[in-house]
Amino acid sequence: MRSPEMRLVNSGSLYGLINPVQVIAVTGGKGGVGKTSVAVNLAAGLAALGRKVTLLDGDLGLANVDVMLGLSPRYTLAHVLSGERTLDEILIETPQGFSIIPGASGVAELATLDNAAHLHIVQAFSALAQRLDVLVIDTAAGISSSVLQFSQAAQQVLVVVCDEPTSLTDAYGLIKVLTRRHNVSRFHVLCNMVRGAKDGATLFRKLERVTSRFLEISLEHLGDIPLDDCLRHSIRAQRPVLQAFPASQATLAFKRLSRTVTNWPLPAGPRGNIEFFVERLVRAPIAQLSVVS
Ligand SMILES: Nc1ncnc2c1ncn2[C@@H]1O[C@H](COP(=O)(O)OP(=O)(O)O)[C@@H](O)[C@H]1O
Ligand SMILES: [Mg+2]
Repeated sequence: MRSPEMRLVNSGSLYGLINPVQVIAVTGGKGGVGKTSVAVNLAAGLAALGRKVTLLDGDLGLANVDVMLGLSPRYTLAHVLSGERTLDEILIETPQGFSIIPGASGVAELATLDNAAHLHIVQAFSALAQRLDVLVIDTAAGISSSVLQFSQAAQQVLVVVCDEPTSLTDAYGLIKVLTRRHNVSRFHVLCNMVRGAKDGATLFRKLERVTSRFLEISLEHLGDIPLDDCLRHSIRAQRPVLQAFPASQATLAFKRLSRTVTNWPLPAGPRGNIEFFVERLVRAPIAQLSVVS
């Protein structure tokens, strides 16, 4: 059997012709730490800076991306995999200038695709990549296979934590699995719901203390998002806080975060091509796929 790389090369792939895409997985282990809020507002912030952004909803939880934005998708990535819809047909454009891929239910199936379906999905993403700068992925809570799949496939892993013991232990657990079993060694830590700049630094150090004792990894303090009621109100209004409360502390923090992210160097070489992201998604270890939540 040919390797996935061979299939790509033989499929007349667009290596070198397409823009590299920054793929960012927003994760954190625990539910309720603000992953979806961060994913939505980062996507909105990057779009406001002129980046072409797609947000892949990797969580079918209660407070998911479409609920936060007041959207009701009819189709998901599963319809693309089954050939019923094209990727373009399931994409939802938001008023904020970015698009959404309703994705979660399709993810587990990526591992069981035959060659033709596999090629089809890679090509669908390749076509999308030509009009994309950043793919943000909102992941579910816990350490399910979909969370691991997305995180190991992304180029950047953003770990959202807040100052609760369970958030720290869950973030540590996730980082440990990703490091030991999935070769991820670089993590951006975003401290959420902080009450002051010092709190963010203290929280980051707490996480760093445990990870540096046991794991050989690079942990970077990406920034802080303050505890801000405007964020809760914006969710009720089903809009990003950037739009609902443009002068709020949370908005300022998300703007800062978005500027930082736009300054990240783009992945160089074939790793920056979206085909490789899809390849890594598809080649996630099968053992993990039996525990999809
Ligand atoms: N910085 C913040 N300030 C105030 N409330 C927040 C903040 N971040 C998240 N929240 C609230 O916490 C709840 C959970 O956030 P959510 O983004 O759904 O978390 P997750 O996706 O990790 O489960 C939401 O009601 C949200 O409004
Ligand atoms: Mg969520």
